[in-house]
Amino acid sequence: MSKKINDAGFETLCIHGGHTAESNRAHLTPIYATSTYTFDSAEQAIAIFKGEEKGYIYGRFGNPTIDEVEQKIALLEAYGLKDANGNPLQLKAILHASGMAAITCMLLSNLKAGDKIITHQSLYGGTQEMLDKILPNLGIEAVIVDFHDHNAVEAAIKADNTIKLMHIETPANPTLQCVDLQALSALGKKHNLIVTVDNTFATPYLQQPFKYDVDFVMHSTTKFLNGHGTAVGGIVIGRDLQKMNTVVTKTHRLLGGNSNAFEAFLLNNGLRTFSLRMERHCSNAEKVATFLEQHPAVERVNYLGLASHPDHEMAKKQMKHAGAVLSFELKGGFDAGVKFINNLKLCVSAVSLGTCDTLISHPASTTHVGVPREKRIEFGITDGLIRMSVGIETIDDILNDLNQALS
Ligand SMILES: Cc1ncc(COP(=O)(O)O)c(C=O)c1O
Repeated sequence: MSKKINDAGFETLCIHGGHTAESNRAHLTPIYATSTYTFDSAEQAIAIFKGEEKGYIYGRFGNPTIDEVEQKIALLEAYGLKDANGNPLQLKAILHASGMAAITCMLLSNLKAGDKIITHQSLYGGTQEMLDKILPNLGIEAVIVDFHDHNAVEAAIKADNTIKLMHIETPANPTLQCVDLQALSALGKKHNLIVTVDNTFATPYLQQPFKYDVDFVMHSTTKFLNGHGTAVGGIVIGRDLQKMNTVVTKTHRLLGGNSNAFEAFLLNNGLRTFSLRMERHCSNAEKVATFLEQHPAVERVNYLGLASHPDHEMAKKQMKHAGAVLSFELKGGFDAGVKFINNLKLCVSAVSLGTCDTLISHPASTTHVGVPREKRIEFGITDGLIRMSVGIETIDDILNDLNQALS
């Protein structure tokens, strides 16, 4: 990044952050479609391999298009924050092929057989499955506690000295539960745990977990950071630069879950309008939530911006805005959910979130169709529950579409 924007604002960093002059004077950093890099001499190869000279070696280890977006996201997560000495917080980010690759890399970098993770129930399904089905085979287990109950969290940590890492997802997918980052991180630190946060739903636009001293933040960049639904990706950001440059880099390289130049370019391009998009996503979501709450066909709306949400006050404390994802319960159950989805004309029926267009899904008939009904309902995914990622279309068009689909 050029010196003139060292103290830049958040929006400026979304555009210029991480950019360095390119040797052919290209305005935008090109898509470096190369699997390997050349050396001028055997001596230079030795120096680069030893880390005595900076340089790219091989595509799985690094790529200039990827570097730019890694630095940009690290700058956004650190924006306005200071380290223990009062200097601007320095973070390092490593881009991965997906959010799941990023989470897996972080977990395997920090845990060994015999260690446990303390976490809460309402995690993204893929993370939950990783804890349930993959990590136990490696001797790593999860302890699940209600993260709203801080006494229970502390008691669980005190009762088991093999707990090494606290994993928080707030707001959580799909329940939108919001837990106290400051209090939980303080508890984790008090007991020498590594504290990690999945910040996918909030993004650094709405919440910066490093403010509370956490160790690692992860994102599925597939969502709001990319913003256009053009590429799957994930990122791990860490404050311990030594650890990021050694064990996390090594794990990333050896797992092979690296991103690629094309998808990094798409992500970087999406980030250029990140701040503006988030502003509109959030204001549209607020209007949609208010509309749905008053609609006679709707039983209940889960949106952190509504006073009726049990975590509304918590969200107000730690988030700049309640965000752009909500869920709502239709009065007519499963059949009403299917009918509503089929009636939509503008909003798109799809399972991701964070894209410019409004995405709507009916978990009971799609993502959770294979989950036994009682279990699904225990998770809060009832027959008529609809999840919605509010887009940035003209608000009246979104509301008109919902209205006609509900009638
Ligand atoms: C909160 C959260 N974390 C992680 C992931 C996994 O990300 P990806 O699909 O990019 O692997 C998702 C995906 O929906 C998610 O919602």
